[in-house]
Amino acid sequence: DATQKEWKGYYFLPAFEPVTAQFAYNQWNPNKGDVIVASYPKTGTIWMRELVRHILYCHDKELLEKAKATMFLFSFLSFGQESKYDVLKKLNFSRNVLATHLPAPLINFKKYEEKGAKIIYMMRNPKDQAVSWYHFSKTQPYAGLPSYKDMYTADKKKFFDSYFAGEHKLFAKKGEGYLEHLKEWYPHQNDSNVLFAFYEDLKKDINQGIRKVAKFLDVTLSDEDVEMIAEKTSFNSMKESTRQRQNIQTQKVRVFKIFRKGAVGEWRNYLTLEQSKLIDEKVQKILGNTNLKFVYDLDKTRC
Ligand code: A3P
Repeated sequence: DATQKEWKGYYFLPAFEPVTAQFAYNQWNPNKGDVIVASYPKTGTIWMRELVRHILYCHDKELLEKAKATMFLFSFLSFGQESKYDVLKKLNFSRNVLATHLPAPLINFKKYEEKGAKIIYMMRNPKDQAVSWYHFSKTQPYAGLPSYKDMYTADKKKFFDSYFAGEHKLFAKKGEGYLEHLKEWYPHQNDSNVLFAFYEDLKKDINQGIRKVAKFLDVTLSDEDVEMIAEKTSFNSMKESTRQRQNIQTQKVRVFKIFRKGAVGEWRNYLTLEQSKLIDEKVQKILGNTNLKFVYDLDKTRC
């Protein structure tokens, strides 16, 4: 439909701009050591971004705050106007922490590797991802646009049926979605400057997750650093600091439902048995040839 933006057949959410994504691909050069958190929406993007910020700057309060400001301005690679890249350049911040929901074919891997930028691809089991999207999509600010007004429905059965049929046009091709996003990212799993991380692994053992990310980013942390970062990036801390900031900035702007529940296994309360089975089949069909295994409940092993 006419209101939906796209590049190479991949649909963009409103407010994410194909021209800005193209600018990132063709013109923008990252600094050595920049970190791009890549993901499909609702897989823990903001959590990983916050982990990276704390890991990089836990020893320097001033830089920690400065990084927060640049992240706010810059947010996602394809978000907003191309001119923001000039601003970023002028800020001349050492290691930027960026994010993107772009599918792998729209990412300039070669350039980022040559320039020494690092990429962390965040993943979450597709059933909880869908539940998180259900809650987010009803409050997201673009719900008023035609393509999304028709998409959201409080009727869970209908919502998930249409979502799993690939009818929600976000960062995927027609009829596709999260699983195809994973499939296209998968070949980059072993790139030297790419790290794959699971939401559920972080939930299970955050200290280990922090150490792994720190190692990937060439940062040395003490045990105390790890404990402190775990505390600062906990669900409750992040929710509280966002709430405070939103209270200061605007009383009336709708609060984004980014920090909703932060749990594993909630899908059991939302999906029908048939929908859950459908996802299992799709995972087998689309990702069966990969070594990606999802955790659907924290006390169970991978399947
Ligand atoms: P829920 O909707 O299931 O609560 P994204 O940043 O990609 O939009 O992902 C949002 C999801 O990550 C939300 O899931 C949110 O609660 C969860 N999340 C954010 N910060 C978190 C944290 N510190 N710990 C656990 N989950 C977190």
